[in-house]
Amino acid sequence: MKLFLDTADIEEIRTVHRWGVLDGVTTNPTLFAKTTGMSYDEVLKHICGITSGPVSAEVVADDVEGMLAEGRHFAKLADNIVVKVPMSERGLEAISRFKAEGIKTNCTLIFTANQGLLAAKAGASLLSPFVGRVDDINEEGMTVVRELVEIIRFYEIDSEVLTASVRHPRHVTEAALAGSHVATLPFKVFSQMVHHPLTDKGIVQFKRDWEAARAAAAESAAPGSREPARA
Ligand code: G3P
Repeated sequence: MKLFLDTADIEEIRTVHRWGVLDGVTTNPTLFAKTTGMSYDEVLKHICGITSGPVSAEVVADDVEGMLAEGRHFAKLADNIVVKVPMSERGLEAISRFKAEGIKTNCTLIFTANQGLLAAKAGASLLSPFVGRVDDINEEGMTVVRELVEIIRFYEIDSEVLTASVRHPRHVTEAALAGSHVATLPFKVFSQMVHHPLTDKGIVQFKRDWEAARAAAAESAAPGSREPARA
């Protein structure tokens, strides 16, 4: 499963890229609103300079022509831009027009498998079911991912399921087990995935034992001295 970072924060993107596990980035207006000092275009260009993976840039226009104008503009910023379009009747029309123009799209705000099926038929490259927001209303968000993955596989549709609105590491495991092609995660979840209390405790213990062994070796090589022996 590919892992995208769900952020517009350049430092977070640089960090996960350095870990060697970053496959792409998704942004949206809410995430851009958390950044300071740069235009959305500048943020997108920066991100595309860090990763060669897909970088989603979201349109905000309500009408088809407006969505097309914004999306065409984003697509010119870098080769790896994917235009993010909300699920709606106009959104579907925009997605099918982008498809005809060879511009890749990520259909966002998907909450049912049927919405995902429509987006796939319109030609979206990525289908983004929001699992956390479904969980928030006391339903099972991962069901949509499971159903959509099955539909895509059954009909051999050329779209990828991108699990979004990920809130915790368990969502990532469940998305992977469901066969989601991609999951996009906030930086916090990437970081939570790295750590485990027993891993952190084990690192401290290994370090402590290593120091004790070095001290013991130094003591036996030169009794009375606590300096470590040189090899
Ligand atoms: O990828 C979509 C994501 O940004 C939404 O996440 O936590 O606001 O539901 P959330």
